[in-house]
Amino acid sequence: MKSSTKYYVLLIATVAVYFTVSKLIFDKVNETSDIVVDELFHIPQGISFCDGNFSYWDPKITTLPGLHITSALLLGYYFPCNTYYLRFVNLIGSCFNLIFFASILKFIYGGYNESQFKIILQALSLTLLPPLYFFSHVYYTDTLSLLFLLVFSRFCFANRGKWLILLFGELSVAMRQTNIVWVAMVFGHKLLDILIRSSRVYGNRYLSKTLLSTRSLIANDIDSSKLKRYYSIADVIAAIKFHLSTYFRTAFKFIPLSDIYVIIQLKSVLLTFVLFLYINGSIVIGDKKAHIATIHLPQLLYFLLFYGVFGLPYVLARFVSTVKLILKNKLNVLLLCIIFAVIVHFNTIVHPYLLADNRHYTFYLWNRWFRKYDFAIYATIPAYVFLLFSLYDNLKDQNCISFLLPYCVCIFFALALQQLVEIRYFLVPYVILRLRFVRPTFNVVLMEFLWYVAINVVTFYIFFTKEIRWIDFDDVQRIIW
Ligand SMILES: *[C@@H]1O[C@H](CO)[C@@H](O)[C@H](O)[C@H]1NC(C)=O
Repeated sequence: MKSSTKYYVLLIATVAVYFTVSKLIFDKVNETSDIVVDELFHIPQGISFCDGNFSYWDPKITTLPGLHITSALLLGYYFPCNTYYLRFVNLIGSCFNLIFFASILKFIYGGYNESQFKIILQALSLTLLPPLYFFSHVYYTDTLSLLFLLVFSRFCFANRGKWLILLFGELSVAMRQTNIVWVAMVFGHKLLDILIRSSRVYGNRYLSKTLLSTRSLIANDIDSSKLKRYYSIADVIAAIKFHLSTYFRTAFKFIPLSDIYVIIQLKSVLLTFVLFLYINGSIVIGDKKAHIATIHLPQLLYFLLFYGVFGLPYVLARFVSTVKLILKNKLNVLLLCIIFAVIVHFNTIVHPYLLADNRHYTFYLWNRWFRKYDFAIYATIPAYVFLLFSLYDNLKDQNCISFLLPYCVCIFFALALQQLVEIRYFLVPYVILRLRFVRPTFNVVLMEFLWYVAINVVTFYIFFTKEIRWIDFDDVQRIIW
């Protein structure tokens, strides 16, 4: 069989199996619970939009109404608009997530002779990423929000499409306004690429010793011997110095037309968002009091824990090399320990919801560890340091500063301004990194798949069997991510 035929046959078979198995779990979720946590306001909102009542808006909902509009459009007159079908929209969405994960991985690994099976197994694992997989069975915004981001990134990777990047950029923001951060990241990535590339010219005295007169014929032409696949921070500094010294004369000289289209589309998404901010007066929709923005840096450390749990196969695969890296960087380790200690000491914020809501795993993490012992927040610091090195170790061989720099800025805005620790918020930043890990071996990919299946089995078992009674609710409550 030709490798592309094999890819599609495998993909279709995988989606079919994924859907069939998930549908069984989905029906069981429907049987066991009418309302799962935030569905309390999402479901009435979805039903109200299905009924054509667009004036009703529950102020408890903090996202833009993309999910509710999409599901109203999809269900339309053909399907009943009830809890079951509203949730079903997400299950179908997760099948598309699987398809787009595969498409993106195929694109990334395109140049390598990667086995089709391995690509699709990774796509399946990403779809099964436990918190993401759980929210694909209920009426939450996360699945569709990720779907539109994936489609958006797929078009960005292809660097084509005269309006599709714009369309899917806007749609992903409509699902969740914080997605604007990832649109901005792609924009920053693109700009840095252009800035660095346009500085790799013959006349750049920061790159080569030979000085060319600006009147020389080849001065300011791209010197392809200076182009690299991955650039470092030193290349950014050299680029900025060069552009400053030449008043940005070459900075925008070598932009291909396709890049111009992409930039215009990204900029339009960003401008629409500025307009939204101006009209809405803030980024928050609905209950503004419950979501006051603050600096909350430990969120970035909790993100490392998320990586430690869901990226465990990657942590273990590089364990020895990470330890070596740590031993080589003793001074940095010490510095990081001090910085992290200052962060957790002065900036640990415990949102009242976190301690009040025993339906989330974070509640148990706080009550059994972080709040139970006075030393706990400090005792976790070595884990953060180790995980940061491990993450770096997994990223360093394939990553370019033009990605890492915008990513770091954007993850700060995506996480470190949120008071409430919600596992869902870590999904997109993790998925982005996971897609950039150095091509893992088959064993690591297999371990990842088995690990996710195991976590899903345990968490769905807890969801189905453990009941929590709340005095002010008739329905039984259940434990979710
Ligand atoms: C979903 O659950 C409800 C309540 O348990 C049940 O009445 C209904 O038939 C279920 N829907 C489907 C399509 O299975």
